[in-house]
Amino acid sequence: MVERRTVSSRISGFYRKPLNNRVEIITGNGLLSEESKAHLDGGGYLDPTVADRLSENVIGCHSLPLAVALNFRINGRDVLVPMAVEEPSIVAAASNAARLVRLSGGFFAEATPPVMTTQVQLDEVPEPHLAAERLLQDRDELLRLADQAIPNMVRRGGGCRDLEVRVLDEDEGLLVVHLYVEVGDAMGANLVDSVAEVIAPQIQSRIGGRIGLRILTNLPLRRTVKVTARVSTQAVGGEEMAHGILRASRFASLDVFRAVTHNKGIMNGIDAVAVATGQDWRSIEAGAHAFAAFGGQYKPLATWKRVEDSVEGTLELPMAVGTVGGSTRVHPGVRAAFELLQLDRAGELAEVIAAAGLASNLAALRALAGEGIQRGHMRLHHRKATLFAETESAAVANQAEGEFR
Ligand code: MEV
Repeated sequence: MVERRTVSSRISGFYRKPLNNRVEIITGNGLLSEESKAHLDGGGYLDPTVADRLSENVIGCHSLPLAVALNFRINGRDVLVPMAVEEPSIVAAASNAARLVRLSGGFFAEATPPVMTTQVQLDEVPEPHLAAERLLQDRDELLRLADQAIPNMVRRGGGCRDLEVRVLDEDEGLLVVHLYVEVGDAMGANLVDSVAEVIAPQIQSRIGGRIGLRILTNLPLRRTVKVTARVSTQAVGGEEMAHGILRASRFASLDVFRAVTHNKGIMNGIDAVAVATGQDWRSIEAGAHAFAAFGGQYKPLATWKRVEDSVEGTLELPMAVGTVGGSTRVHPGVRAAFELLQLDRAGELAEVIAAAGLASNLAALRALAGEGIQRGHMRLHHRKATLFAETESAAVANQAEGEFR
């Protein structure tokens, strides 16, 4: 278990400080190891020899800014939220939204137990509905056999929990078996892929047919996270603004063209934390959009309603993330990100990621319902453009960020 230090995520004037000062502040709060300090002091570069072990045909490294979003309080705990992203205004906007949310107590988030879903496809199964019944009769036996694929996980308290059978095409005898596997604090893709491969011949020996794919689904409906946040009408910017946020939410719930942009804004925060913490952000993206479309119509992942004198947002989506495995122990930037977060449970990471998503959504809707996105956005884009022109001045940069505070 991580031993937690109490830190405040509210660091006044952080954005105004020069970069090396920010690193000092962050390293001075006692959260970071010597290795992580040295890594950040050195500019946060990934050693090419480490990169060479992470991927193939490596010829160098591709860096992103690593930033800290401030003001987050999640389930009563202040959290410094690491974000790796290149788009201007995402970190400032999320920090600003989190500052408003903390006035009403912060984000409240809950992840489900970490249950992944893996699929086994079978074609040409005779009498597929009878076959499905047969498999359900053998459910306990099949789960026991599937557990044999992941003895270490079973020892650590995880394992196969449930089985479902879906007949996709009766005429073709096309049937799919879902196995639900509790994977602890791992993202779990490799674990559940092993389960699918081990159990497939056992299924076939019972019902016949031809084995097809054996792979996880990136829509893990039993591994989701839900977060809510409230902001008082006054804090959000007044009655007109509160109403504007509710109108924006309604627009997204009625129109796919708006819903996808609304969700993109949510993913701004989600992906940034996912990348900083070394998660498979492609799988999170895939799952999020499939979840949004699950009812047959693509929907906003977060919606806002009025509750008493506040607006209250709720975001729910699948969240297959891990605090062990993958690049979590190999990449020094990812290690530093975990040290800042001070968590070890995958569910807690899911909760932080979801809070960053809801904060990003709130920030976007406030901007859009108010003066429009362009003013603040363009100031920060201007900052990037001036960097290209090598004429950036600290004054422009600070003034621009100040707009979001
Ligand atoms: C831009 O990266 C994200 C927004 O388009 C999100 C939204 O429209 O809700 C501002």
